[in-house]
Amino acid sequence: MKKEFLLSIESSCDDSSIAITRISDYKLLFHKKISQEKQHAAYGGVVPELASRLHAVALPKILEETKEFFPFLKAVAVTNEPGLSVTLMEGVMMAKALSLSLGLPLIGVNHLKGHIYSLFIEKEAELPKTVLLVSGGHTMVIDVQSYDLIRVLATTMDDSFGESFDKVAKMMGLGYPGGPVIEELARRGDENRFAFPVPLKNSPKIAFSYSGLKNAVRRTIEEIGRLTDKDKADIAASFQKAAIEHLLHKTKKVLDIFPASSFAIVGGASANLKVREIFEKECEKRGIDISFAELKYCSDNAAMIGRCAIEAYKRKDFSDPLSLKVKPKSSFFN
Ligand code: KG4
Ligand code: ZN
Repeated sequence: MKKEFLLSIESSCDDSSIAITRISDYKLLFHKKISQEKQHAAYGGVVPELASRLHAVALPKILEETKEFFPFLKAVAVTNEPGLSVTLMEGVMMAKALSLSLGLPLIGVNHLKGHIYSLFIEKEAELPKTVLLVSGGHTMVIDVQSYDLIRVLATTMDDSFGESFDKVAKMMGLGYPGGPVIEELARRGDENRFAFPVPLKNSPKIAFSYSGLKNAVRRTIEEIGRLTDKDKADIAASFQKAAIEHLLHKTKKVLDIFPASSFAIVGGASANLKVREIFEKECEKRGIDISFAELKYCSDNAAMIGRCAIEAYKRKDFSDPLSLKVKPKSSFFN
């Protein structure tokens, strides 16, 4: 097997991660991630400047462990869009320095595209696919025909799916990130105790919206006042039920218009087992196959960035290390 490797860096939010992937067969030779969840938990969300400072310490520490691969590197890849500008900058600065000092081509990777390629870590891509991306920053149904042809079919009008879990957790003082805590609490709760409104239930709009649901939860919490453990579990379960019902309702509408033969769910919130179970049932009903990224590759990581970058490498789709920009707000639209 050829010793031709690609180094990838991810720092778009609160995970510092670096991977080394073998170009010929996508084998992951090194992958490490340092998460900052504990440091942000006290604030109930990611504090960008704190995240950026933590990346500045963590990334060089991880990079140190990859030195043995340096003689065999063929390219350096980095997430440069979308994400928090100050944290993206940390990874991009490191990638530019490596590219210039080692004389390697630089590849800027779209983080959302990276999540799509989390489905294909250590394997060939199987496309076309309709992909539901549920993360802290995005809620999207995406038509992925190929690496070069990607179309967003539906997106959120306000908060994202994962973000709504984070905000509800914050309201109940449960720390950050909210997704895993709410999912865990919901297991013990009564999902029928609170009839939270399913967003856009009677609207023909094919889009997602989570701010109304979040505010309904906030009002309930304020009405109750002091929450018991049972109240918290029931709120978590009732909220999760409405949040997933909305996700399913609008995704079904997309699938009715754009029938898919293959469906997948990616992104940090795709680790939610209830989401997996409900969409598995729906896909079975429709007779279409469904796949997920492995649990360890659902949340942000450099392995997915590296896997995606190999596609760019094959196309010689390189960026100039002197001019690659950080694009905090980009999506697939531009
Ligand atoms: O993909 P990701 O790691 O970062 C972004 O690109 O945003 O996703 C993180 C998001 C957070 O909002 C987190 O609360 C949510 O994914 N999440 C979950 C679960 N695990 C993580 N949301 C719902 N249920 C979960 N089990
Ligand atoms: Zn992400």
